[in-house]
Amino acid sequence: MKLPTSARFSTICLHAGQEPDPSTGAIITPIYQTSTYVQDALGQHKGYEYARTQNPTRAALEGNLAAIEGGRAAFAFASGMSAISAITARLHTGDHVIVTDNTYGGTFRLFDKVLTRYGITFSYVDTADLVATEQAFTPETKLVFVETPTNPVLRLTDLAATAALAHARGAALVVDNTFASPVLQRPIEHGADMVVHSTTKYLNGHSDSIGGCVVAVRDEDIEWLRFIQNSAGAILSPFDSFLVLRGTKTLALRMARHSENGLALAEYLRSHPKVTRVYYPGLPDHPQYDLARRQMPDGVGGMLSFEVASFEEARLVLNRFRLMSLAESLGGVETLVCHPASMTHASVPPERRKAIGLSDALIRISAGIEDIDDLKDDLAQAMG
Ligand SMILES: Cc1ncc(COP(=O)(O)O)c(C=O)c1O
Repeated sequence: MKLPTSARFSTICLHAGQEPDPSTGAIITPIYQTSTYVQDALGQHKGYEYARTQNPTRAALEGNLAAIEGGRAAFAFASGMSAISAITARLHTGDHVIVTDNTYGGTFRLFDKVLTRYGITFSYVDTADLVATEQAFTPETKLVFVETPTNPVLRLTDLAATAALAHARGAALVVDNTFASPVLQRPIEHGADMVVHSTTKYLNGHSDSIGGCVVAVRDEDIEWLRFIQNSAGAILSPFDSFLVLRGTKTLALRMARHSENGLALAEYLRSHPKVTRVYYPGLPDHPQYDLARRQMPDGVGGMLSFEVASFEEARLVLNRFRLMSLAESLGGVETLVCHPASMTHASVPPERRKAIGLSDALIRISAGIEDIDDLKDDLAQAMG
């Protein structure tokens, strides 16, 4: 099988990085569950010496991820957090990073509780506001770390404009593309230098693997990521690589359905009398609807949040869901609901949660790919 250079996006998702297995012709890349490789003679091997450094299943996944994000190389890690950690391990004492203010709670915890111990400083900025981003730069700024759409209040950042700001000041733009997936948003096409994912979410898509990846374009980043992946060793296992590779085959199909269901639930909630606010960039009254259409032209995905009157009301609603499961995480084929203030964002101090608009009455939905009428029925009964 040879992937034509003219291949379109969903064909790339399905085939990139994979050739029939050279020893048997198996169409699916096998799980190379080995720690080492026998060498033909001293100094002669097949490109594989030790499985922390190279593994064929992981290499196939990395080739696939690089192709679908439009990068030059990808590196697969044991979790989304270890992927983010691999990027920031390159920073030195005194370096400064601009971060989207309502970034994933675990990212905030890594920056605030771990990296500040090494003398790295962080400014948490509403990167939806380009003037605020511009004002946050210092001569020491090395990275701008953006999440768009954000979790859980679905704010967007203009990637092309932010890339221009960063590059004019010698900083790199890193985009956490977990919420959108490369089907809906390809940050490298907008000027990002690196894209990071929790593959745990949409890329794997079946809620049965924890993993992460970084996709890069510049030689210096690729060199660093290869070095740190091997040096720190937080690699994705062969089995998890196999699972994510299986996941990306159906990514385009799944994302279309996630987006369709996300929009339908957002529209339903907007007209519900007990809902005080809906957060979904695919609704025309979202303040960044125009940017969403430009930056995510094929849909904005399955993530949405809404507010009810109070925390007590949110608790009642959350405890009534039957088909939708109360759980952390997102991006799987099954619909999940969560209470960000006490679950995914519990590590974010209350005053910061307030500043980013994350109220105790907020409920987040990760819309799966079930029949939309079943999801609406469950939502209707849970709202009471
Ligand atoms: C946007 C985002 N980035 C990164 C992570 C971290 O990924 P992982 O849980 O795979 O370490 C998450 C996890 O929820 C996330 O939502």
